[in-house]
Amino acid sequence: MSSDTTHRTNRMPEKGLPQNMIIQELEVKLQRDFTYSSGKILCSMCTNPHSFAKQIYRRYLEKNLGDPSLFSASAELEQETISMLGSLLSNPKASGSIVSGGTEANIIALWAARNLAKKERGEVIVPVSAHYSFDKASDLLNLKLIKVKLNRRFQMDVKAAEKAITSRTVAIVGLAGSTGLGVVDPIRELSEIALAYNIYLHVDAAFGGFVLPFLKELGYKPLDFDFSLPGVCSITIDPHKMGLAPIPAGGILFRDASMSEAIRMEVPYLSGEMNQSTLLGTRSGASAVAVWALLMHLGRAGYAAVVERCLRLTWRLVEEIQRIDGLGIVTEPTLNVVGVKTDTVDVSLVFQELRKRGWAVSLFHDYLRIIIMPHTKPSHIKSFLEDLQKILENLKT
Ligand SMILES: Cc1ncc(COP(=O)(O)O)c(C=O)c1O
Repeated sequence: MSSDTTHRTNRMPEKGLPQNMIIQELEVKLQRDFTYSSGKILCSMCTNPHSFAKQIYRRYLEKNLGDPSLFSASAELEQETISMLGSLLSNPKASGSIVSGGTEANIIALWAARNLAKKERGEVIVPVSAHYSFDKASDLLNLKLIKVKLNRRFQMDVKAAEKAITSRTVAIVGLAGSTGLGVVDPIRELSEIALAYNIYLHVDAAFGGFVLPFLKELGYKPLDFDFSLPGVCSITIDPHKMGLAPIPAGGILFRDASMSEAIRMEVPYLSGEMNQSTLLGTRSGASAVAVWALLMHLGRAGYAAVVERCLRLTWRLVEEIQRIDGLGIVTEPTLNVVGVKTDTVDVSLVFQELRKRGWAVSLFHDYLRIIIMPHTKPSHIKSFLEDLQKILENLKT
């Protein structure tokens, strides 16, 4: 075997190789990947999973929730997980599934909304800030996305959303933590509109779902976004983002079982329980069991502490950014997501220079997005800001 990182394996060996040799090769081949522990990843909504969740995940790798009659105990734990997440989102009676991520959860939500509405040429109203998983969903489900503008605070413009409603509207989508800036849409107003027009309301809290429930007890301004609002029909909440669970672990929660039944399919060949309400067939039981275990291990207080650390560091970053000549923030953060703008140099050049120095941030139109995740430490932010300042000085001269 070669230790050359550019060497490309394209054929299975005739005779199997010793495991230690393969591990050595993998160590070389995977060296180029970023690691969370380096602190250089400032652009991801995922993080190094909690060690206990990793242990549980490894232990139960063989579980398949696509065949719940074989793994009925795992399936029961999945439902307990959904109830715990439901309680976090003000509805312990929620039904749903632990799925592969926010994309699948959003697709499932629109799938259910479409089937419940039974309308020809259905339309879905989303803010322009919605995650591209809704574009995928609209393509797959043959739904037309109606993208509405944002207000000055980068939230969905509620009046524009109301104006966009037609007889073909199948659902409205609000964001509880937008991908770009972590902004929370006015979900209370959207809930009122959804009830008034009898339209399905889905909330994408893929990122915010594990942050927003803790704001009040941490002394931050609480925001309404969950099932306590009567118009909210379903919520995406991703354990593999701020929930610290191993990938893949997304969550789709419905207000009640009648909604998830809209996508129920009978699977003719299974040995017992015949129904599935997910996009995937065979799916990881280890994911659901790991989320169950981690919710039990960290508890509310454990998650609140994680959120507190991330938010404290986020605000420290904001203060430091505002002190640097030529830099500013796009909007005051609600969650642990910061948009950084500059009017003195080309922001895409700053992005490229940061990358050359090993920093991974995201470039969004005209700003840089920085996410402070549980793997980010104050020392990482300090050295990031030092590099950022040097880059700005070099670009200005
Ligand atoms: C708001 C939001 N929804 C959905 C998703 C998709 O999640 P996933 O990448 O787990 O499919 C993301 C991903 O960043 C997101 O930010």
